[in-house]
Amino acid sequence: MGYPLYRPRRLRESPLLRRMVRETRLSVDDLIYPLFAIHGRGHREPIPSMPGQSRLTVDELVKEAKDAASMGIPAVLLFGLPATKDPRGSEAYAEDGVVQQAVRAIKETIPDLLVITDVCLCQYTSHGHCGIVEDGRVRNDATLDLLARVALSHVEAGADIVAPSDMMDGRVGAIREALDESGFQETPIMSYSAKYASSFYGPFRDAADSAPQFGDRRSYQMDPANGSEAIREVGLDMDEGADIIMVKPALPYLDVIARVKQEFGLPLAAYSVSGEYAMVKAAAQLGWLEEDRVVMELLTAIKRAGADLVITYFAKDAVRLLERERHRL
Ligand code: PBG
Repeated sequence: MGYPLYRPRRLRESPLLRRMVRETRLSVDDLIYPLFAIHGRGHREPIPSMPGQSRLTVDELVKEAKDAASMGIPAVLLFGLPATKDPRGSEAYAEDGVVQQAVRAIKETIPDLLVITDVCLCQYTSHGHCGIVEDGRVRNDATLDLLARVALSHVEAGADIVAPSDMMDGRVGAIREALDESGFQETPIMSYSAKYASSFYGPFRDAADSAPQFGDRRSYQMDPANGSEAIREVGLDMDEGADIIMVKPALPYLDVIARVKQEFGLPLAAYSVSGEYAMVKAAAQLGWLEEDRVVMELLTAIKRAGADLVITYFAKDAVRLLERERHRL
């Protein structure tokens, strides 16, 4: 049926009609808000390359989490900056580590907020890699035990979901086994399944002080040129017991999000990373982009591609914008 019988503009004229035929809707239920925990009290350290985001001492982090929860955001994703680093990243699995403290504090004050923890070693290791380093190489199988210990320590502190982001082969299975053995069969794993070796993590590495001290992460994170490999990665994680899968970053990988959604029925998260946030913020500061509209377009596009959940530093802004939209219509 072609023009003039079919006129697509008929459905675009009225704002009410546009609302009725809209195919994708961002909801507060989709949002996951990342937070950075530091040691100390009463302190917020602004992150220069991520305007509006700060590293937070545990007491401040609880306030921020409370704020997010009161806006209806269902979940936060926690990262930690340790007091000291060593080759094995031992604070990552310490009972009194900064993330473990933050988890306990949030669960005590806001038990209904879901706490997801990032499971990795790179913020905690002196060399800045996501695994054990021997002879200048990141060792896969030697790292799995440590990752399982990290995940278990988070769950013991009260974490609702653990999210391994290291990209070692077999880590989802190793974590699942460790959790099951300790009686945490019910705790879901959200796996960073298709995580690319991306330059869009730059601002995060400033924020979390997690840049590798030698080399880069290309021996374990995915080559940005590969799409089919993402399908294999997600398949492995699913077989190892992942409950929620993830594609990261989001904006430059919308095709991967779409393919993964089509191929697998699992809930799919997309991580709109620090560099995506920084690009929008920088252009908005220069007056080159209209931040509010760009944020909604970006998050809606990520959902349209196939993501069920969106991890974004814009989570609180998105809730405000969604509410504004609702009042306007
Ligand atoms: C840790 C980790 C990283 C991010 C999330 N978990 C950095 C990295 O892999 O170097 C990036 C998040 C962001 O850029 O917002 N492995």
